[in-house]
Amino acid sequence: MKIKDYACDVLVIGSGGAGCKCGIEASKLDQKVIIVSKGLTFKSGCTPLAEGGYNAVFGYVDEEDSLQLHIQDTLKGGSFINDLHLVHTLVTQSPQRLIELERYGSLFDRQEDGRLNQRAFGGQSYRRTCFKGDETGHEMMVGLKEEVMRECIETHGEVMITKLLYDDSHTKIVGAMGLNLQDSSIIIYHSKTTVIAAGGCGWLYPVTSNASQKTGDGIMIAYDVGADVMDMEMVQFHPTGMLSPKSRRGVLITEAVRGEGGYLINTDGDRFMINYDPRQELATRDVVARAIYTEIQEGRGTEDGGVYLSVEHLPDEQVENKLHTMVQQFKDVGIDILNEPMEVAPTAHHFMGGIRINTKCESNIENLYAAGESTSGVHGANRLGGNALADTQVFGNIAGIEAATNAKSSELLDADENEVNAEIERIENLKTSGTYRPRDIKKEIQNIMWDNVSIVRSQESLLRAQDLLDELELKTEDLDVPSFDEYNEELEIAIEVKSMIRLAKLIIQSALLRKESRGAHYRSDYPETNDDEYLKSFILNKSGEVKTVKRGLFD
Ligand code: FUM
Repeated sequence: MKIKDYACDVLVIGSGGAGCKCGIEASKLDQKVIIVSKGLTFKSGCTPLAEGGYNAVFGYVDEEDSLQLHIQDTLKGGSFINDLHLVHTLVTQSPQRLIELERYGSLFDRQEDGRLNQRAFGGQSYRRTCFKGDETGHEMMVGLKEEVMRECIETHGEVMITKLLYDDSHTKIVGAMGLNLQDSSIIIYHSKTTVIAAGGCGWLYPVTSNASQKTGDGIMIAYDVGADVMDMEMVQFHPTGMLSPKSRRGVLITEAVRGEGGYLINTDGDRFMINYDPRQELATRDVVARAIYTEIQEGRGTEDGGVYLSVEHLPDEQVENKLHTMVQQFKDVGIDILNEPMEVAPTAHHFMGGIRINTKCESNIENLYAAGESTSGVHGANRLGGNALADTQVFGNIAGIEAATNAKSSELLDADENEVNAEIERIENLKTSGTYRPRDIKKEIQNIMWDNVSIVRSQESLLRAQDLLDELELKTEDLDVPSFDEYNEELEIAIEVKSMIRLAKLIIQSALLRKESRGAHYRSDYPETNDDEYLKSFILNKSGEVKTVKRGLFD
């Protein structure tokens, strides 16, 4: 087996918004950075797919807006289990990070007087979502890519990191290793500090808005070296994903459609959100997703299991200018949204759980940092639309500066060779002609999670999922994986499914612990929110210890 070694000061795992920003800041501090990503550099990950916007208080549209209100909205949206310190960091640093994006070349839409435009998004007191039409994430990546290139940062695409490496004394992370997907060779990275910015895990579900790489690997490699993970039960379902054709199922229909004034309508022709929340279509995502779920369950959904989202009442010019991606996305499948409604249903979108960090983006493991959707705490039990893009820039920035500063006073250390050899052997041993195809196992995981651990859960459904995943885990001991040394998709999926099952079980473990409903976690057997007992986050660790951290405004 071919093995290649690389050395750098700061290794960044993930090339989306958080990863690029992190790499840029570390490089500006004169550190040698390598950005490695499982998909194509700059093109994979969820940032390029993000549509609606970036939350930052400028008060350009609604002068009454304030940082205080953005903090309040974020905490309320997260059902008050957010880490207040992280929320404060997000909100106070978000505007400056947007200005930096514009300096890189990512230009946001403006009002006639030249000041930034801002739109309404769910759960927000005022219009504070800055945007570029409905392709905001794509525009951000244009500037970030330019800046990464100006900094001459080395990027390695199509490399799947499978393991973080400890030094001989097992006290600090000294790099990572994984599989070069192009030729199935092993790559080892020696780094002084390592940052995980690898995104979430939407592909634990069969219907998702996420990019195809998002199977939660970044979270699990951190967990495997002892990192604390938190809020693992909190999976956000975006209310509006495409329903048909099947090939487009789950593709995002931006919240900006509702922000621009779109209506949700059931098959009785009623604008039903009024029955659920006075904020109607601009209630928080947990509320809107559950409302749609209820309409469908109670027989007011479409034949295919959706409801309608309509912009037919809005001026054509507004729709064409502000939502042109949506216009095109539906035109491609034969629907003219100016004159016909869109059929929509919830889609797995954002993971609020993940690696626990502090305001320096440090994990509890020495030399290991994390930023973006791989982390937890910022968004609590439910993320506000528009806060994720801001999160990537605020925490990518901090992670880059902190990891670089630490790297400056650190040295490259050898990795524990036994661990390296064990990982090579593990990957080699996956190439066997067994009974089960990894891609079939992946589908089974997704179906188990969709049926039992999605918008509505219960003790019964969670325990059923756990049993089914136990059975499935046994099957992963008998996989059918070809042994050729070129692009070997089954090998990639074999590695993924082993980690996905363990991640799914952590979600279930945490969901069982929270015997109440809060934010995106809705339990039909405990439908009420119970602040007396559960105003806290659960922290899991591979030691098996379950810790809790109290939340509320004064944590
Ligand atoms: O609906 C959207 O445009 C998604 C935005 C977000 O998740 O922040």
